[in-house]
Amino acid sequence: MKVLVIGGGGREHALVWKLKQSPRVEKIWCTPGNGGIAADAECVAIDAGDVAALVAFAEKMRPDLAIVGPELPLVNGIGDAFRERHWAIVGPSKQAAQLEGSKIFSKEFLQRHSIPTARTYGAFESASKAYTALHNVPFPVAVKADGLCAGKGVLVAQNFEKARDFIERVMEKSELGAGGKRILLEEGLEGDELSFIVVSDGNSYAPLVPTRDHKRVYDGNQGSNTGGMGAYSTDDLLPEALRKTIVSTIVQPTLAGLAADRIPYQGFLYIGLMLTNSGPKVLEFNCRLGDPETQAIVARMDFDLADVLQNVASGNLQTSKLRWKPGASACVVLASGGYPGRFESGKRIEGLAGAEQITGVKVLHAGTQGVSDEVVTSGGRVLGVTAAGPTLGAALGAAYAAAEKIHFEGMHYRKDIGRHFNSLKASGN
Ligand code: AMP
Ligand code: GLY
Repeated sequence: MKVLVIGGGGREHALVWKLKQSPRVEKIWCTPGNGGIAADAECVAIDAGDVAALVAFAEKMRPDLAIVGPELPLVNGIGDAFRERHWAIVGPSKQAAQLEGSKIFSKEFLQRHSIPTARTYGAFESASKAYTALHNVPFPVAVKADGLCAGKGVLVAQNFEKARDFIERVMEKSELGAGGKRILLEEGLEGDELSFIVVSDGNSYAPLVPTRDHKRVYDGNQGSNTGGMGAYSTDDLLPEALRKTIVSTIVQPTLAGLAADRIPYQGFLYIGLMLTNSGPKVLEFNCRLGDPETQAIVARMDFDLADVLQNVASGNLQTSKLRWKPGASACVVLASGGYPGRFESGKRIEGLAGAEQITGVKVLHAGTQGVSDEVVTSGGRVLGVTAAGPTLGAALGAAYAAAEKIHFEGMHYRKDIGRHFNSLKASGN
């Protein structure tokens, strides 16, 4: 098989790394890839959102399978462009990708199908109407820009001033671009978050192992939101009773709702959940795999990913069995100084080889670039130090031991990935 992986972050490196282990895969292209992916695939400098250029590339190279990492090409219609040409691709249609591309679309979908989610206070096209509505809502309130905003489109505000200030920046100053033309106000939920990702071939689906992301930049969930500073996976995250509730009240109604609305869904569907005192509720849908959740998920895969994804693309998922390694996995993100704000690039990265000598560890690259014989930083999230182990403690221990061997100027990372879960377990919750 010749495979095209679209994207160039840590998620795509995880996919490429796993695909390369398949005896069936003879060639992998990655567009645009990064400094680490270059060791495992042929990187081709095509912007991930550029559907026309990706179609032209596929026309020439004829990959047997394409796998889409980020949301932008999906929202731009790459799924439809490939399927119209009868080319195998894993990723939903433009219409289905609206579940992520428009928060108002996804909220209306959730309400139409009675799927548990935060109570909504309304969708607004003008800032003044949103300010008026804010006078009558309880806090905390979640303010959400409708469109794609690269992870910056949501603020959970504790008071009127903070909510008003965010609406002003998003709607009046257009700080987030076109994604902020409309906003949604909803109830701010409290609880632990859980990423529940399924893969569907349009008819049947299979769940992936559960994961938890760490969105805030600093330990103890302090500081601004990021794309994700680390993730972990263990089956204990999802006790059987909770798993059943999630499947029956959220996953099945979501897939049935898509079918009823005549929106076939093929690809990964990421369901972001808040585990509240009154049960699991949907915070968001993403039309793709999570980053860094994928790094933790791939570390636990005990199946041929190329095989399974080919079955997804051809509607034969039922013939696949997804086997998972027992135990746990963890991914610790090493970020550039200043991230998620302004940061400098081009810093030389040292210690990569030593880090990978630790048993069970794989260093997955996100914002890196190869320059001569060196690897330098080129993004906010630079590396995802990923490890699997028999227990969460073992996986975290290996990932942190490896992280300590790596260095670049300004590097910072959270020291408490997975710790909240360990303390919950210790307290018997
Ligand atoms: P999203 O941009 O929809 O992915 O949301 C990003 C993050 O905002 C989520 O992972 C949550 O941490 C938070 N969030 C979104 N909606 C809510 C809500 N209704 N209540 C509390 N937190 C929320
Ligand atoms: N880690 C969260 C996301 O991929 O959206």
